Amino acid sequence: MRVIVLGSAAGGGVPQWNCRCPVCTLAWRRDGSVRWRTQTSLAVSADSESWVLLDAAPELREQILSNPSLHPRRPGRHSPIAAVVLTSGDVDHLAGLLCLREGHRFTLWAAEDTLRQVAASPVFGVLDPSLVDKRVLPTDESTRIAGLTMSPFAVPGKVPLYREAEEQEIERESGSVIGLEVSDGRGRLCYVPGIAHLTPALAERLGGADVLFLDGTAYTDDELPRLGLSPKTAARMGHLAITGDNGSMRAFVGTRAQRHYIHLNNTNPVLVENSAERATVEDAGWTVAHDGLEIVM
Ligand code: MLT
Ligand code: MN
Ligand code: ZN
Repeated sequence: MRVIVLGSAAGGGVPQWNCRCPVCTLAWRRDGSVRWRTQTSLAVSADSESWVLLDAAPELREQILSNPSLHPRRPGRHSPIAAVVLTSGDVDHLAGLLCLREGHRFTLWAAEDTLRQVAASPVFGVLDPSLVDKRVLPTDESTRIAGLTMSPFAVPGKVPLYREAEEQEIERESGSVIGLEVSDGRGRLCYVPGIAHLTPALAERLGGADVLFLDGTAYTDDELPRLGLSPKTAARMGHLAITGDNGSMRAFVGTRAQRHYIHLNNTNPVLVENSAERATVEDAGWTVAHDGLEIVM
């Protein structure tokens, strides 16, 4: 299986268009200490011929342009993108669908709640229903998608930001936020860009993967309030922090998975390559994913 990190940032990207937090300030300066990052998406393939996108970031067109594996290969209209799987209905995960509107046949897989969201927005009607098959991806069973076995599982999370007025419940495994386990029969990849907290069962499942891409939104739970950027803690945004007693870094000590943080918010100091925080996560066995990172497993 091949895995390409198309984008590795949380909502807003790095730098964020309207931000001069300490990390964005370094990124705007382009001095090499902070890589620019687009919003989170992976491309996975069993045969390097057809590819499945895990989430569709707003920068999808740019991500396709930067990755030759996703370029059209045959005369006329063609794309190796066979399917898209969404892990939530957040804008940073589904806006890229609008880049796939020009007459290409593919299958869109997502939780029922997310598909309902897509159906409720007339803009997504540009995905011609005669070409784009929209299918519910059932949790706790396996679905074959382009030669890969996709096993989704519910994770604690919340409704998308634009629907928060409806419901404020965060820590529930409601099925609207999912994690994905992807296998080609040999390697097992887990991709969980958003998770509000880790249950023991989830920690065991994720720690046993060959390769894990996990929610690395915030280094500390109070990162945004402390910078005066938002009153919301990471937990309030549906993301478990890297550090702290219940943080992700501590939870995976000694596990076998090759571990990568993804969905990195632009405020996260691990994005600064020479920072103490970057050294801390690397010492704990994590890498900080970047756009273009490729893994063959
Ligand atoms: C999140 O991960 O919390 C969302 O991307 C927030 C947003 O939509 O900006
Ligand atoms: Mn997000
Ligand atoms: Zn910023």
